[in-house]
Amino acid sequence: VPLAGVIGMPIAHSRSPRLHGHWLRRYGIEGHYIPMPVMPEHLAEVLRILPRAGFVGLNVTIPHKEAVLALADVVTDRAALIGAANTLIFRPDGKIHADNTDGYGFIANLRQNAPDWDPAAGPAAVIGAGGAARAVVASLLDSGVKELRITNRTRIRSEQIKSEFGARLVVYDWAQAGNMLEGAATVVNATSLGMTGKQPLRVPLDALSPQALVTDLVYTPLMTPLLAQAQERGCKVVDGLGMLLHQAAPGFERWFGQRPEVDDEARRVVL
Ligand code: ATR
Repeated sequence: VPLAGVIGMPIAHSRSPRLHGHWLRRYGIEGHYIPMPVMPEHLAEVLRILPRAGFVGLNVTIPHKEAVLALADVVTDRAALIGAANTLIFRPDGKIHADNTDGYGFIANLRQNAPDWDPAAGPAAVIGAGGAARAVVASLLDSGVKELRITNRTRIRSEQIKSEFGARLVVYDWAQAGNMLEGAATVVNATSLGMTGKQPLRVPLDALSPQALVTDLVYTPLMTPLLAQAQERGCKVVDGLGMLLHQAAPGFERWFGQRPEVDDEARRVVL
């Protein structure tokens, strides 16, 4: 019976066990997906032991997403570029393969929920420069975005991303976030602002075109203040829950041999 799971600290809030558990049942696969709290000082030991205990791979969440890169034997280009991994595969030869599927999940969610979205239609505007933003930036550049604007409260983090991801990036000051939206075809909130219990994201939307697609990585609530305001202006909006579902699919397929479907039923089990 193949075993997989998710490691992090804390881990109790993770929705991944519900999602993978649903897919295992749905496809009649005998396997288990287990949430495991792991402290940073135990990470290396856990990664050595689990493959010997029947595990075929893991999802990795905070605070281990960066540290696993140094412990993996093979790191995909996109995980290296993003500087973090969320999916590990324990290969039969004993090697640990590390990948990052967050960017894939981000794009797959947009393709599923906004089939008319054209990344090349105009500049993309990314708000935030944390780990999640790095995956979004990498995937947007991969999808053919010609100009990618980025802003962050801590400006140096956006400048760091520009220095790594290159010439198509334009850094905006946090105070100029509203100006960044002018002419943008794609707008992404990759900060934690707008999450239940946090302040809303306060960016003036006057310059936002109704042609723009607006999406938020925050999914609690599903309709964030940003998405609600953008929808009111006539924009197409896509919530962030689908990214969580889609980023999980490649790992499930690699571990359990079945490509899982991201549909309304999968959405309901994680809500
Ligand atoms: P993640 O991996 O989820 O992206 P992170 O690396 O901690 O987490 O990044 C969180 C993002 O939300 C950052 O862009 C952060 O801005 P800073 O780099 O300036 O910290 C942003 N963020 C969090 N709280 C914020 C706040 N109160 N105001 C503005 N930005 C905030």
